[in-house]
Parts: sequence; C-alpha cells; structure tokens
Amino acid sequence: MRITKIKLMNFMSYTSKVFDLPSVGLIYITGPNGSGKSSILEAVSVCLWGRSLRGASPWVEGQKGKVVCELEANGKKLVVRRERDANDKKSLAFSVDGVDYDFPTATKAQEALCTHVGQWDLWRKTSVLSSQDAAHFSSATDSEKKRLLESLIGLEKYEKAQKIAKEQTSGLQEELNKAKFVLQEKQTSVAVLSASLERLIETRGTLESLEANQEANRQKTLTRIAEAEAKIAAAQAKIAEYVYDIADTDKELASVAKALELHAMANATECYACGTKLKQKPDERHRELTMQMANLQNKLMYLRGNKSQLSGVLQTYLFSKSSAESDLASTDNTLTDSLAKNRADVEKAEIALTEAQLAMVSAKANAEKANVELEVNKHVCELLSIRRIRSRLLLDAIGLATPLIQQRLAQLTDSITVEISPTSELANGATKDAISLKITGAGGTDGYSGCSGGQRRRIDVGILLGLADLACAYTGKDRDSLYLDEIFDALDGQGIEKVQELIQDIATTEQVFLISHTQMALQASLHIVTG
Ligand SMILES: Nc1ncnc2c1ncn2[C@@H]1O[C@H](COP(=O)(O)OP(=O)(O)OP(=O)(O)O)[C@@H](O)[C@H]1O
Ligand SMILES: [Mg+2]
Repeated sequence: MRITKIKLMNFMSYTSKVFDLPSVGLIYITGPNGSGKSSILEAVSVCLWGRSLRGASPWVEGQKGKVVCELEANGKKLVVRRERDANDKKSLAFSVDGVDYDFPTATKAQEALCTHVGQWDLWRKTSVLSSQDAAHFSSATDSEKKRLLESLIGLEKYEKAQKIAKEQTSGLQEELNKAKFVLQEKQTSVAVLSASLERLIETRGTLESLEANQEANRQKTLTRIAEAEAKIAAAQAKIAEYVYDIADTDKELASVAKALELHAMANATECYACGTKLKQKPDERHRELTMQMANLQNKLMYLRGNKSQLSGVLQTYLFSKSSAESDLASTDNTLTDSLAKNRADVEKAEIALTEAQLAMVSAKANAEKANVELEVNKHVCELLSIRRIRSRLLLDAIGLATPLIQQRLAQLTDSITVEISPTSELANGATKDAISLKITGAGGTDGYSGCSGGQRRRIDVGILLGLADLACAYTGKDRDSLYLDEIFDALDGQGIEKVQELIQDIATTEQVFLISHTQMALQASLHIVTG
C-alpha cells in the first residue's frame, strides 16, 4: 500500500492541508515539536482503519473534520474518506478504481476496506516504528513475544477459526435438534394421516359392499314388482273372462228357465179354468230342460266360485306388488351420499398424506444435512485443537526470524547479534518453553536490558525490519511502505548514519515516511517541513 495524497481538514493541528506524496522514495518530515509531523502518520491510521496510534482523538472538538487518503494497493487505486461531524458522528466511504461503494454500516465498510489495505495490527507491527514502540518486541514478556510472533505469521487465525468452529458447534447442534424435532413431527403426521386414510378406505369397502347389496336387492324388488304386475294382469283378464261367462251363463239360464216355464204352461198340471190339480206327466222335454238348468246353475256356481277365488288371489298379488313398491321406496338413499363423501375424503386424505410424506422426506434431508455439518464441524474443531500443528509452525517461524533479524542488524552494527530462541533459560540453568531474545556482543550477561540506549535502538530497528520481513514472507506480500517516527533518539552519529543508510536503501523500493525533529542530510524524494 502506497499513499499518494493526504487531505486533512480540522485534524489535530491542521485546519486544512493537502500532501501530494511520491509512491516510492523517502518522504522526510521535519519540524519543531507539536508542529504536526506525527499527525501525518496518525492521519493514515485514522483514515484507513479508524484507529489512533496514540490512543487519543485526533478530531478538533466541535468541528466537522475530514481525512482523505488516495492510495495504491494491490494494483488498484483507492480513495478513502473518513469524516467526523460536529456531533462526533463518524463515517467512512471509499472508491476503488473510481467506483464508489456503499455499505449499510461503517463496520461493513471497514471490513471491505481491510480486504484492500490489510489489518491494522499487521500494518502497525510490520510497517510502523515510533519512539513509543521502538522496543515493542525486545521489551515484551516471553508470552507477549510469542503472541506477537504468532500474529505476525497469522497463527491467530487458527485460534479464531477454532473459536468460531466451537461457537458454531452449539449452533449446529441446536439446528440438528430442531431438524430432528421437525422430522419427528412430520413422521408422526405421516403415521396419523396413513392410519386415517386406512380407516377411510376400510369404510369405503364397507359402503361399497352395502351399496352392491342394496342394488342387488333393488333389482330383486323390481323383479318382484314386474312378476306381481304380470300375475295381476293375468288374474284380472281371467276374472273378466269369468264375469263374461257368468253373464252368458245367467242369460242362458234365464232362457232355459223361460223355456221350462213355457213348457210347463204347455203341459199344465191343473185346470186353467177351475184350477183343479191334474195328474202331471213329466215328459222328455221337461227333463231335458230341467237337466239343462241344473247344469247351467252348476256352471254358474263353478264360475262364481272360481271368480271369487281368483279375486282373492288377485288381492294377494296386489298386496305383494304394493309391499315390493314400498320396499323400493324405503331404499336408503343416504348410502350413495355417504359413499360420495367418503370418496372425496379419501382423495383429500391421499393428497394430505402425499404432502406430509414429501415434507417428511425434506425434513429427513435437512436432518441429515445438519448432522453432516455438525460432524464436519467437530472434525474441524479436533484438527484445529491439535496444538502441535501451531507449535510446529511457530518453531519454523522462530527459526526463520533469527537470520532475517540478523541480516538487518548486520547493516546497523558489526558487533551485536540477536537470536530468537523457542526456549528461555531459568535461573537454575534449566529451560522452559518460552520465546526468548539472546543478545551477544553487548549488554553483558543481562542481554537486552544490559545494552546501552543507542545499542538498544539499533537492535529495535533491526528486529522491527527483520520481523517485518518475516511477516512479508508468511503473508506472501512484499511490504511497500514504512513509517518511522523519531527513531533516532539515543543514537550516536555512527548509529544515525547506519540507520540512515539502511533507510536510504529501503527507500529505493519502498515508500518510507521518516519523521524527525532533527535535521539530517538525507536524499529525500519529498521533504515536508511542518510548523
Ligand atoms: N484532537 C486534537 N485537537 C486539536 N489539536 C490536537 C489534537 N490532537 C493533537 N493535537 C495537536 O496537534 C499538534 C501536532 O501533534 P503531532 O503529534 O503531530 O506533533 P509532532 O510534530 O509530531 O511533535 P513532536 O516532535 O513533539 O513529536 C500538537 O500540538 C497537538 O497538541
Ligand atoms: Mg511526533
């Protein structure tokens, strides 16, 4: 990341100021105390990350303030604008290659900006060396050194990942429980719906067989009615025949009776004048007529008997027809309605069951997915908790740090060597696993604390640059800018000269901000004089 322009408005001691900066070379910033030298470095930190290096507010109280940085990062041109209004409300906006980006919150905007400019911690530890934190690494405790090294080589991300994975475990377990619960609910509802469908199908069977019986009975009744009607018609025809025969026979009987009467008159048995009874002499004709009459009376009796008998039979036929008709009329019509309703219910129940089965399949898939996610997460947790992986990586980094620091230190001093060791020596001569700094060539047996102020400053600069090289080696990115704020304190003429040489060397490829209140003869690409 190389800053090409800084615009300040109501920022620390600046009311309004613009700095145009070269992207490579030495930017030498001089001026008296309190004139605004460190403000330029502070402006970069506040603008790009919203964080103060000094831990104090850089905004002028009650004023609207603004810092704009134009920069190049990873081949892209960024314009970052950080503002603070009169009510202390802060905002961040930035554009990449001329395209403005909008974010719902300042946090989201900051996260997106960090993907271009990196994390503040790493920038501060690898690119900034100020008088306050010159001895940042050297004077840190063993465990602080370990933490710093871990963060320089990005080991924190393992811990973060482990923390996130652990946090996710409970969430995933909860999701699995929920998914299992939903699955159980869906399984129950499938079982309930299946049972209810089974019952409906059973009822349908019963209703269908009842309906079949009813139909068979109806057909039988219709046959009964048809048979009765045929018998009634036959009986009525026969009765009509009898009526006709009776009338005929009656007529015939009357005619025979008349004939007999006439015959009797003709063969009178008393004197028609005095009425004296005469001795009757039956003749053949009389006998014949009498016989005829008797025969006709018999026939009449026979016909009437038959007619009356048949009338009785006709009544039974009529009764049987009306009883069959009333059977037909009393047919249970609700059976058809019940069956239609049952069929509709079966259809509905089948649809509901299919839907429930689909929901169950999807709930099962969800539960399986949640289970797999939880299993994977557990494995990730296990892998990340293997301490040896991180220890091994740290050991490798420690091994690489010593030659890198030594290489930088050799440019600053001939006599002093620094070694970073993964163990610390205890008073009784034993060792413990804690990172230590071994100084040889100065400081006597007390090492760093035994060194003079000037020796310590050379060691600090060497360590800073060596560790920055280490971070670059691990992040895979070349550092392209360096901010040095008052690092010449305590250095003698030779020390200043050596550091200057090193800085001039670095400035051939990097953008180096060198802040100092002491005037030095340096080849600078830009010399800013504040105050
Ligand atoms: N919030 C603020 N509002 C107004 N002025 C401020 C604010 N914060 C800091 N200042 C002032 O800004 C000025 C510039 O400070 P800066 O740290 O840049 O000075 P410097 O040139 O680095 O000085 P030195 O040589 O002492 O390090 C100082 O006078 C300081 O008091
Ligand atoms: Mg300063």
